Amino acid sequence: MTDHQLKELLDQMTLEEKTGQLVQLATPFFEGASDRGQITGPMQDMGISDEDIKKAGSVLGASGASEIKNIQKKHLENHRLSIPLLIMSDIVHGFKTIFPVPLAIGCSWDVELAEQSSAIAAKEAAVSGVHVSFAPMVDLSRDPRWGRVMESTGEDPFLNSTFARAFVRGFQGNLESDNYKVAACVKHFAAYGAPEGGRDYNTVDMSEWMLRESYLPAYKAALDEGCEMVMTAFNILNGIPSTGNKALMRDLLREEWGFDGVLISDWGAVKELLPHGVAANEKEAAEQALKAGVDIEMMTSCYVNHISELIEEGKLTEDLVDEAVLRILTLKKKLGLFENPYRDADEEAEKEFILSAEHRAAARNLASKSIVLLKNEDVLPLKKEKIALIGPFSNSTDILGPWSWAGAPEDTITLDQGMKNHVTEDQLLISNGCEIETGTEEQLQEAVEKAKQADTIVLAIGEHSDMSGEAGSRAEITIPKVQVDLLKKIKALGKPVVAVLFNGRPLDVKEIIENADAVVEAWYPGTEGGNALADILFGEVNPSAKLSMSFPYSIGQVPVYYNNYNTGRPKDAPDAQVRYVSQYLDNPNEALFPFGYGLSYSNFEYSEPVLSSETITKEEPLRVRLNVKNTSDTAGEETVQLYVRDLVGQVVRPLKELKDFKKIYLEARETRQIEFTISEEQLRYHHADMEYKSDAGEFEVFVGGNSRDVQSKKFNLSD
Ligand code: GLC
Repeated sequence: MTDHQLKELLDQMTLEEKTGQLVQLATPFFEGASDRGQITGPMQDMGISDEDIKKAGSVLGASGASEIKNIQKKHLENHRLSIPLLIMSDIVHGFKTIFPVPLAIGCSWDVELAEQSSAIAAKEAAVSGVHVSFAPMVDLSRDPRWGRVMESTGEDPFLNSTFARAFVRGFQGNLESDNYKVAACVKHFAAYGAPEGGRDYNTVDMSEWMLRESYLPAYKAALDEGCEMVMTAFNILNGIPSTGNKALMRDLLREEWGFDGVLISDWGAVKELLPHGVAANEKEAAEQALKAGVDIEMMTSCYVNHISELIEEGKLTEDLVDEAVLRILTLKKKLGLFENPYRDADEEAEKEFILSAEHRAAARNLASKSIVLLKNEDVLPLKKEKIALIGPFSNSTDILGPWSWAGAPEDTITLDQGMKNHVTEDQLLISNGCEIETGTEEQLQEAVEKAKQADTIVLAIGEHSDMSGEAGSRAEITIPKVQVDLLKKIKALGKPVVAVLFNGRPLDVKEIIENADAVVEAWYPGTEGGNALADILFGEVNPSAKLSMSFPYSIGQVPVYYNNYNTGRPKDAPDAQVRYVSQYLDNPNEALFPFGYGLSYSNFEYSEPVLSSETITKEEPLRVRLNVKNTSDTAGEETVQLYVRDLVGQVVRPLKELKDFKKIYLEARETRQIEFTISEEQLRYHHADMEYKSDAGEFEVFVGGNSRDVQSKKFNLSD
């Protein structure tokens, strides 16, 4: 299909057929679909006719080669011009082989493994008939009350941008020539991660400066990497819902950034312009969304029911519809669907690739690199003696996390199964001790009795996966009380206790830290989670993950993030007063565990950084050299982080900004020289007039194994 042929096809289409391309419906609406399929939003009366369904342009939530072939075949039989459906699904951190949730992947700081995880997800999805994945989600996340922080890679624009690019490369590769790839769809545009109060779908209001400095970079990175689609966010942005926000989408996304791919609304978000109070009816909603640039309306029928009227009334032009339809047809062309509407759907390939040993090994490897060691008072690695595995996550399959709908519990390796690969059955005593939010005296007593017989206790506790994810906001971010009480009872036995946390957000872990001798943050580690965790606990793998989102001391200080601003009364200034400074009377300002923090079984020491010069120019970048030494007898991986501070800007500048990082593997007692380069380009920022440029002046460079424990040197940028 050539571009000319595409235009010819468009010219043959009736207005109803064009409008049909702008509609996306969930699987159950389609002939040939079983009642399975992923429903990820409110199902409502769509007021859509069978005739309209036959003209639909895409389906969401389908999976399975035979089912999707069936849906596509039926659709093509009923479509006058045989325009194939786009098959779209949420494949965020794996398809059937589930990888750790993206926030955990963010803690791996391993860009290659992140790309590999998306490539494997794409391969399993493609042979199952999927054409487009609604991923990567790149919403910057600073508020752990928000349930979808688990779906992001955290609080830093640079790290999120780096991962956004990696995920797009993994999903898409070269879409037109590579097999087993799917189109990616970056979401949620824009700033969905900043809802007031951390309450999902809530108001987002921020300056253009903050938006461009912190929240937009990762979307732009995904698009610069060639991401084919963008999904609108549910939230308003500065008074206008994103889905009807012309300034955000036509002016910024399409005009300024030059994005000419397909823009899809989130589930029902076009019709939600009514409850937002900017559209009086579905007709107005259709007009606003199409004028704002939304090509596909997901799971509501404002377009299909009102576009023809709006054109008759002169409120919309058919050109606007043609523009949207052509973008959709172009994506179908890129995917080769006109030549082969089934693309990679292949039942035999499903059997060969899905959950293959290779895919499981990749999931296990990435999971072990995503598990963060927060505390270890010489308890880990575990000795192979009598171990009591206690807690509701001891043998739970609820370790896949949100957005793992195609993953199956029966394929999941639980923690007890993983541990049984390292110790004999009689060395491992297992007892749940309680449920996630409830417990009985009997459960508790049984757990205590098992713990009394053990040398060391591993306590597997956390949040149910439904306690995070979409619409999973929490006002309290602690582990449920019944589990903390269990920990205290077990701790009272006076034996070493290792707490393993399964959760979808940074938590207030103060009581866990106080009562456990070691604390391991496992997040939701995915299909191979039990094996990966056991590898870490028994020292087969030396933990190397580093937090990509801060853990607060308490919910009261949220949002707390490392790249914050100094204020006019910084608490830690040399001349700071006792009272009149920016502080809490009852809580530290800093995070309990800062961005970039994570322990290892090794110990790494950093030398002072040595700079290539004290002054750099646009032509002459700065080289920063330092030595990192593994002073332990255990080989291990360290993520060396480089931050910069612009000491004086035209607008305020963050205390630190991550500018680069390197993962290095050091043998026991090995020292390695590391070199970074800082260019003038990396010192640019948005000025008050939004111009993106650097200023001559003084800067400070920081190097270290996290954003807090660093060594620094100053340098100048000259014109
Ligand atoms: C959901 C989510 C979005 C997802 C879409 C389709 O509401 O917000 O991330 O891709 O619907 O499932």
